[in-house]
Amino acid sequence: MQMADRLLKTPPYPFAELARLKREAIANGVDLINFGIGDPDTPTPDFVVQAMQRAVENPAYHQYDETDIGLPMMLEAIAAWYAKRFGVPLDPKTEILRLIGSKEGIAHLAWAVLNPGDLVLVPDPGYPVYKVSTLFADAESYAMPLRPARGFVPDLAAIPSDVADRAKLMWLCYPNNPTGATVDLDFLAEAVAFAQKHDILIGMDLAYSEIYYEDDCVPPSMLQVPGAKEVCIEFHSFSKPFNMTGWRIGWACGNPDALAALNKLKSNLDSGAFLAIQEAATVALTTDTTAYFRDLRARYRRRRDLLVDGLNAAGWQVEKPKGAFYVWAPTPNGMSAADCAMKLLQDCGILATPGSAYGAHGEGFVRFALTLPATDVEARIAEAAARIQATF
Ligand code: MLT
Repeated sequence: MQMADRLLKTPPYPFAELARLKREAIANGVDLINFGIGDPDTPTPDFVVQAMQRAVENPAYHQYDETDIGLPMMLEAIAAWYAKRFGVPLDPKTEILRLIGSKEGIAHLAWAVLNPGDLVLVPDPGYPVYKVSTLFADAESYAMPLRPARGFVPDLAAIPSDVADRAKLMWLCYPNNPTGATVDLDFLAEAVAFAQKHDILIGMDLAYSEIYYEDDCVPPSMLQVPGAKEVCIEFHSFSKPFNMTGWRIGWACGNPDALAALNKLKSNLDSGAFLAIQEAATVALTTDTTAYFRDLRARYRRRRDLLVDGLNAAGWQVEKPKGAFYVWAPTPNGMSAADCAMKLLQDCGILATPGSAYGAHGEGFVRFALTLPATDVEARIAEAAARIQATF
């Protein structure tokens, strides 16, 4: 059988590779501590599960999702949540589109808005899907380095003007996967002005919007910037805030033309999203979640502090991330990312992602996801720190 050239050029999805390493280690009897994929270990909250149990009994939901852009009740709930959370009004008829998880929308945007040979500005390190979807659309990526000295924020002024003029799409993600960096509205305003000047669509990935650790860095939406709806499509997920990774539901919002293009593509590819899930997602957004999010953030903050303090006690030099649930750790003693990840796996029974899986500028880092499956996660993190302290 022939495999398409585009797939031959595509590296394996890093988390499929990690899943394989995980299976192998467990089969070999390793007591594995798994900091691999960012997949919340705590269950979906009861109020969402119960809503789903009720919704799934509705026979009208057993058929195709024949709505145009999503279940109206969910679109209304998204608009109301968005207005409350970000102070931005969204028209539920034209400015929102349901997705089968934000990864699906992010991946498909390339086919909806790019022509072969177009240029895409991609953060490096960055979520691998930005670059791979660019490749699938026969377009080219231009790496925007995210450097520690700049707080893992790209230097837009350093992008050559011919590159900026050629670019059609730019990806950004804050709170950031994989670095945990956050940005303020000033940077988002700079990005919008840059996009307006060079006629670029911004794909803003806000999957981690509710996971942050300081009250003075509550993640903003890019759509808070005046004029942003002209240049921005923003991607949101239920997976990370509501522990719903397996459910596959998210949304895009912002520029109506970009949303319409994405919807045209999607309507030829998929058949919407299970309507019962859209009703349960509605309940997620319309329930009072103040206490739920306070607990969620406190839980990840305790894990973050345990791991970072433990790594630093082993002589690593790691800063505490301000958002998302990843610790982006410089490798000790100048080790390569791959060597460090391999040593963690082979000598400590710890699975972490080599930073190089996120791009060339991820070299010299490993990423620990704070979502490890265990009955007592904090005890497992303490155990991981002890193993690292004994080994490195
Ligand atoms: C990650 O670990 O980077 C994410 O969980 C992957 C994803 O969201 O697809």
